[in-house]
Amino acid sequence: MPGTAIIGLQWGDEAKGKIVDLLTEQNEIVVRYQGGANAGHTVVANGKKFKLSLIPSGIFRPKVQCLIAGGVVLDPASILKEIDGLVKQGIKIDRNLMISDRAHVIFPWHKIADRMFNNIGNDEPIGTTMRGIGPCYEDKVGRALAIRVGDLYKPGFKNQIEHIAGVKNQLFLGLTNHFDHTMRISGWDIELEAESIYKEYSGYAEQLRPYVTDTTNYLLDAVDADKRILFEGAQGSLLDIDHGTFPYVTSSNSSGVGISGGSGVPPHFLKKIVGIVKAYTTRVGGGPCPTEQNNEIGQQIRDRGNEYGTVTKRPRRCGWFDAVAVRYSARLSGVDVISVMLLDVLSGIDSLKICTGYEIEGQQVTHFPSQIDDLRKAVPIYETLPGWKEEITGITKYNDLPENAKRYIKRIAELIGKPVEIVSVGPDRLQTIIF
Ligand code: IMP
Repeated sequence: MPGTAIIGLQWGDEAKGKIVDLLTEQNEIVVRYQGGANAGHTVVANGKKFKLSLIPSGIFRPKVQCLIAGGVVLDPASILKEIDGLVKQGIKIDRNLMISDRAHVIFPWHKIADRMFNNIGNDEPIGTTMRGIGPCYEDKVGRALAIRVGDLYKPGFKNQIEHIAGVKNQLFLGLTNHFDHTMRISGWDIELEAESIYKEYSGYAEQLRPYVTDTTNYLLDAVDADKRILFEGAQGSLLDIDHGTFPYVTSSNSSGVGISGGSGVPPHFLKKIVGIVKAYTTRVGGGPCPTEQNNEIGQQIRDRGNEYGTVTKRPRRCGWFDAVAVRYSARLSGVDVISVMLLDVLSGIDSLKICTGYEIEGQQVTHFPSQIDDLRKAVPIYETLPGWKEEITGITKYNDLPENAKRYIKRIAELIGKPVEIVSVGPDRLQTIIF
């Protein structure tokens, strides 16, 4: 199975890290190919909990080569901190980590811009993670003000910083005057100092040097050699910049459509796409979430599932499983099989609801709307299934699950139209039922 991908099918935080970690056993290379330090992947290995943001979840297996490909936006301070933290916990990081010289670099001006433009002129901000992700991708596409990892090592780097910091200072000054004073957030008026930014980033560049390489060519050679490669998606398909709930999305192609673009590997190399879903729905940040339960049930799920952001610690919005949204994202991402995570969180809820359609302005629909205004108006149509009382965190075989849990899983598979291959009943590697 040369090319396998792990893709989140909801709004991120589907517990993808655990499945990537499991599947790395069968793979030689693990690739992060989009997003940046906005992602937060939790992996429990050998009873220890690790939080990853930029580093691929394969890092815990010393023989696995971990790659951060060109489609990622790299915050050097953030990855160095992550490397340091892992090394201190005894994880080996040297030649097993590679960073693309094509990846774009996040600078202080990107984080300032994230704060400036989080508010999009209506009552509901995007709710970005403030990691500078969107503004860095903006500069990438705009080209003129972009700096890639490879540029950090070129003689012109200092001039590039001086030029861009100068332009950004002018832009921010103009915008600060434009925005109403009450909308300003502290830190806007910081003047970017090219010299200190240059020094800071030159230091990062030296520390990162051993990892930096042309990952695209490395991967193309690996494809020719028929190596087993695992692609680790970050965020979820519904946050995809082109096909998600725009404008309440992230700035990369976080659905399956982004794998090839972000990594440089041709699409036909991919032989299996594993779609990851939670047994319920969560969303963090702004934007509609039709099945959200702003009530006791939502709180119960949040408490039992510890639904607080890995990166920002924000409480996640929780609700019932939305089969309309997931069927759409599973098709979009070309999913072959489904992995249902956090099933144990639903234990003890008397009856469980699954959204099978929406009512939008009196019309019943089963497709996921392309326009945010329609999604806002969507009233979920629910099917109710009986819950189960038993704790299931110790179960390792599908047949040992309570009948109602099996029924719930079966119904999810039917509604999505894809088989369920993995069910997770707890954070540890061992708490996994593989069919
Ligand atoms: P940004 O990617 O920081 O610009 O944030 C844009 C939107 O995507 C916000 O609603 C974030 O909460 C959401 N988002 C970004 N990364 C993640 C993630 O890893 N998990 C869940 N939501 C995310």
